[in-house]
Amino acid sequence: MVVAADGRERLEQLELAFVRERRIADALREVGGALGTTLELDDLLELILGKVTELLDADRATLYLLDDTNKELVSRIVVGQNVRSIRLKVGHGIAGTVAHSGKPFRIRDAYEDPRFERQWDALTGYRTTSMLAAPLKNHLGRTIGVIQVLNKVRGAEFTTEDEALLIALSTQAAVAIDNSRLFLSLIQKNKQLLDMTDQLERKLRDLELLFELERATARASTVEQLLTAVMSRLVLACDAQGAATLLVEEETGDLVVYAYDPRHPETIECVGVKAGEGFLCAAMDAEQPVRIEDGTADARFSARVEGVFSFPVTRVLALSLEGDGRPLGSIGLFGKQGGLGFSNEDVDLLRLVAANAATAVRLFRASRAREVGERLTSIGRLLSQVIHDFKTPMTVISGYVQLMVDAKDGAQRSAYAEEVLKQFDLLSSMQREVLEFARGERTLFVRRVYLKKFFSDITRQMAHEVDGRAVELEVDVDAKIVARFDEGRVARAIFNLARNAIEAMAEHGGRLTISAQMVGTELVIRVRDTGPGIPPEVEGRIFQSFVTAKQGGTGLGLAIVKKIAEEHDGRVEVESGPEGACFSLHLPQRERVPPAVPATAEPAPANDRAPGPGPKRGPRRTTKPSRGGSAKG
Ligand SMILES: Nc1ncnc2c1ncn2[C@@H]1O[C@H](COP(=O)(O)OP(=O)(O)OP(=O)(O)O)[C@@H](O)[C@H]1O
Ligand SMILES: [Mg+2]
Repeated sequence: MVVAADGRERLEQLELAFVRERRIADALREVGGALGTTLELDDLLELILGKVTELLDADRATLYLLDDTNKELVSRIVVGQNVRSIRLKVGHGIAGTVAHSGKPFRIRDAYEDPRFERQWDALTGYRTTSMLAAPLKNHLGRTIGVIQVLNKVRGAEFTTEDEALLIALSTQAAVAIDNSRLFLSLIQKNKQLLDMTDQLERKLRDLELLFELERATARASTVEQLLTAVMSRLVLACDAQGAATLLVEEETGDLVVYAYDPRHPETIECVGVKAGEGFLCAAMDAEQPVRIEDGTADARFSARVEGVFSFPVTRVLALSLEGDGRPLGSIGLFGKQGGLGFSNEDVDLLRLVAANAATAVRLFRASRAREVGERLTSIGRLLSQVIHDFKTPMTVISGYVQLMVDAKDGAQRSAYAEEVLKQFDLLSSMQREVLEFARGERTLFVRRVYLKKFFSDITRQMAHEVDGRAVELEVDVDAKIVARFDEGRVARAIFNLARNAIEAMAEHGGRLTISAQMVGTELVIRVRDTGPGIPPEVEGRIFQSFVTAKQGGTGLGLAIVKKIAEEHDGRVEVESGPEGACFSLHLPQRERVPPAVPATAEPAPANDRAPGPGPKRGPRRTTKPSRGGSAKG
């Protein structure tokens, strides 16, 4: 009987153990299956805690996670009460003790244990009795938190079976938490990667835009072209309806707005504005970008500026163009496609482009200033040449003035005075040449010239040059020829050559021969002397500026001759030997030279120009002479 009773008791125990194991197995399966449905940490914890409360017939449960840096337990999820966040020091209270020891804890009445912190109950008005707590240990055996359940229902206490179940569930919970954390960190890494890719793509786009801008602005030869290049790209990149740039003019300080409307991409509107007028003036003085939602309703709206666009201006985004010290102006986007507002990305892009545009404008202005400087240098050079050639008219004037002094006859005197006035004409035409050059114009007054008349004038003036010297002058010209060239300049060239010849024969005297004839399609003017020839120390360099072998010479005469020949698409050549030097000026006459008509030189029609520019020359502008009369050489 005893055996039978023992056997029954044993059977009951086994049955109980079986039921318990099955409950645990079922609970684990259920929780395991549920864990597979979500990786969201809070959902997971709530699920685990719900299951724990239900399976253990508990009133409440709390799950704490360990905050390793602060050595604290932080309640993550609480089921069955309202307190949302509890912080416990590791080693303090029941849960803190479990976290510290890594061992489960079970008690019939919490108030029996001095470690129980009653203030929570006092705070919530709850009365804790039975209590069960187990550590959450991950796969490495490290405690990552604590699960705590309170008050078994119907005043019962938690059993060893409950404890085993809680330990099993907490292991599962720990694994799930670890997985979830891993998953979250992967998601975060992935997001970081995506953000980085996004940033890189944006940087690449910005770089491409900058590169394109750099190329376009480098090609621009006017401010308008430069700003069109900048604004057209900006409008595209920001999906804007239009753009405008305000620039403070360097010399005058005037404000000019350049507006770009993609509907009329070929033209850029320029509007002079008053200080403080329109949004761009506001942006120039503002430290932050100016953003306007409804342009037309804004008090700063200017019909003259924002009104130039073909669309009503609503949204505006504008910012200052940084200069050295004070702003260069400002740049703005007007209207966003699709009725949207400008984004922060647009602001970043505008900043980038504005910085680039400001640099481009500064460089552009610096290069213009350099060009002006270079032109001034050239003016200096030209001026020195003109002053060099003042010698001829000065000599002629002084010759005639001396003649006038001795002339008794009034008619004779007025003939001399006429000659003097002609020289003043020549002087003022030379002065004009310099001024026209300063304005960026290059003029060549090419006309039909009757050589007979041209050389008779030259001979008469040359008489003053040879006067008082042992030099015999001979002029040998085919009087029938009518050629095309700039009389004034060719006369200057001939005088420079003749003066050199006279100076070369100063010591021993000799013969100066000036001749002119057609050779093929070229008019060839020769100036020959019987002097000693070109000194060996300057031979080969005589056409360069400032090359001279003379005491008091400037070395400009032949450089001027060469320049005049080249202006006519011609050339100058020299032959020299002990018997003398001969310079020849070759002036191409590509068009057929019309037969001579017995009349004086007359101005050519306005479109009458020198033979077309050669490949080495830039475009040439022909302007009408400012005076009716022809300049005489
Ligand atoms: N007909 C010539 N015979 C000999 N030497 C000449 C002759 N023409 C020019 N030269 C030489 O060529 C040099 C350069 O001539 P160029 O007319 O350019 O300058 P320059 O006569 O010395 O000075 P300037 O500026 O006053 O004319 C002269 O110094 C001279 O040595
Ligand atoms: Mg000379």
